[in-house]
Amino acid sequence: MSERVIFQKKAMPVEVEAGKTYYWCACGLSARQPFCDGSHGSTDILPVAYKAEATGKAFFCGCKHSKNGPLCDGSHKEL
Ligand code: FES
Repeated sequence: MSERVIFQKKAMPVEVEAGKTYYWCACGLSARQPFCDGSHGSTDILPVAYKAEATGKAFFCGCKHSKNGPLCDGSHKEL
């Protein structure tokens, strides 16, 4: 089991489009944060799909330890 790398200890706000699917980087290694760029290949961690329900700002998890999937749940405060 690979360890998730903490990219940053705060949420990453991104403008998203309703109906569009985004692939959140769960491993922390992507150079295209908060999204996957394929860098997880050396780990057993996979990106997580996020389908935007509405157009607007989504707060993606930057620490990679959120229990709310790709979105920030404040877990970075415990790290
Ligand atoms: Fe991190 Fe793909 S680069 S999950």
